[in-house]
Amino acid sequence: MTNQIELTAVNKYYGAYHALKDIELSIRKGSFTALVGPSGCGKSTLLRSLAGLEKISTGTLKIAGEVMNRTPPRKRDVAMVFQSYALYPHMTVEENLTYSLRIRGTPKAQAKKAAEEVAATTGLSHLLGRYPRELSGGQRQRVAMSRAIIRNPKAFLFDEPLSNLDAALRVHMRKEIRALHDRLGATSVYVTHDQIEAMTMADHVVVMRAGVIEQQGRPLDLYDRPVNRFVAGFIGSPAMNFIPATGGEDGRSVVLDLGERQSVGLDYPVPPGRKLIAGLRPEHIAIAPQGAGMLKAPVAVVESTGSATYVTTATTPELAIVVNGRAELSAGEVLGLDFAPGHLHLFDAVTEQRL
Ligand SMILES: Nc1ncnc2c1ncn2[C@@H]1O[C@H](COP(=O)(O)OP(=O)(O)OP(=O)(O)O)[C@@H](O)[C@H]1O
Ligand SMILES: [Mg+2]
Repeated sequence: MTNQIELTAVNKYYGAYHALKDIELSIRKGSFTALVGPSGCGKSTLLRSLAGLEKISTGTLKIAGEVMNRTPPRKRDVAMVFQSYALYPHMTVEENLTYSLRIRGTPKAQAKKAAEEVAATTGLSHLLGRYPRELSGGQRQRVAMSRAIIRNPKAFLFDEPLSNLDAALRVHMRKEIRALHDRLGATSVYVTHDQIEAMTMADHVVVMRAGVIEQQGRPLDLYDRPVNRFVAGFIGSPAMNFIPATGGEDGRSVVLDLGERQSVGLDYPVPPGRKLIAGLRPEHIAIAPQGAGMLKAPVAVVESTGSATYVTTATTPELAIVVNGRAELSAGEVLGLDFAPGHLHLFDAVTEQRL
């Protein structure tokens, strides 16, 4: 059995509010799964349903092959790690770590040994005697994780565990959590609203919107082939450009409406006259040499960070372009723009689904 967690046709209602809609999700043993989506889309509800903190309304939830629909949290053998750490302030790090073992009647010496082993894995050995208030944010987060690890659960469930930390520490802790996951051979489900965090940490990304799973798959598959405009706009930074478009009369081109209509030849068929939305990522647009290029666009704004140059065009809609390194450009200058036809994403204008 390779699926550690399996959800089939799961729905969750809070009264009349439909918070999870027909969720189908298989989480493989040893995988790192990220749940992403805008605020209120149901990420925490889904995670809390796995933990047993919420009861699902319909459907089946299995953990390690066993139906757990009505199983109380204590008996599910999963460990939740929160952003607020939820450490006991009056207990030392060691006491925080051993608490769950002691309430189950584990002998004191055995609990102490377990705490020392986990602390060695998470780099907390020298902090076992401290109180939570004597720790940094990153150290507290490590204690919260250690407390989950010591129980040797069937799965780790993380709900935005890094959102209290500053940007630099967050990037560091991402790597630490992922390395720990690999070392333990754990199964992890990680909620975040940060798509970069999801893309860099997870091997399976689940994109949610309004209680629905819009798409799930490997991170780069979502980036390369988003199934609809929502996923296309959600995954990738800076965000994809969207341009109103129409299928060309010859069946092998699109007419892009950038204020002025510009026709672009493609190496694949497109239904003539079909109303479309064309998507083009900022990093897939290249500035062509003088007088060349598939599209023409005047420059509105140029911003340089040293490592990259961000260009905004004076078209409607405006286009964002990212160029590696430096580029000598000035406002008003008319650019020729190129892109590989394979990098143009076409969505139906009405359904917003990928063609
Ligand atoms: N106990 C509850 N009773 C009623 N509605 C709830 C309850 N908990 C959550 N909701 C609603 O369900 C929806 C999903 O909430 P949830 O907390 O799962 O979102 P989320 O994706 O985790 O959002 P965020 O990124 O802001 O944490 C929201 O519209 C929320 O208002
Ligand atoms: Mg949440």
